[in-house]
Amino acid sequence: MQRLVFATGNKDKVRELKEILDGSFEVVSMKELGISPDIDENGETFEENALIKARTLCQLTGQLAVADDSGLVIDALNGEPGVHSARFMGEDTSYTIKNTKLIEMMEGYQGEERSARFVCVIACVFPDGREWTCRGEMEGQIGYEIQGENGFGYDPIFFLPEYGCTSAQLSREGKNEISHRGKAMRMMRDRLQGDRQ
Ligand code: IMP
Repeated sequence: MQRLVFATGNKDKVRELKEILDGSFEVVSMKELGISPDIDENGETFEENALIKARTLCQLTGQLAVADDSGLVIDALNGEPGVHSARFMGEDTSYTIKNTKLIEMMEGYQGEERSARFVCVIACVFPDGREWTCRGEMEGQIGYEIQGENGFGYDPIFFLPEYGCTSAQLSREGKNEISHRGKAMRMMRDRLQGDRQ
């Protein structure tokens, strides 16, 4: 079975990718390989950052390398926090503080003016030099209050008008079906399977 090395230490992401690939690739995380390269995610786009990580890992392992980069894009804030989502207000600041701050920054914006999306870009870099990315998005709005206990990060302020709740109020499976990451992973799976034929 062809092996794929995933540039993450996050167990949930590894589990989700394994579920989506359903045995068609052997998924190995950086952690399992015992490597943790210090990668400077200094790109200006999600695509650049995902490619930086996947290229580094492919060079280190000589194997098909996969990396993702994701974040929350808020239209009224000119796309911020965007590629800076993890670093917004400092990596060690709690998401209760970050989410409270974003709600404050959105004061005065109503309804559709609060539009936002979660973006996930997955990059695949092959040992023969081929590389490509795919992008999944989930549209929503910044809520007026923090709601929900599931998920992580900005989920408690990410309101989904069609569902009448935040992404922190969806089950793990429910979120995976509609999430930016789920969509990008399924696109990646289809493209990898197409590349094989
Ligand atoms: P990374 O791509 O895993 O480094 O994630 C970047 C950051 O974007 C995370 O630390 C979160 O702040 C935010 N983020 C990305 N995806 C989600 C999500 O599904 N829910 C909540 N926050 C997210």
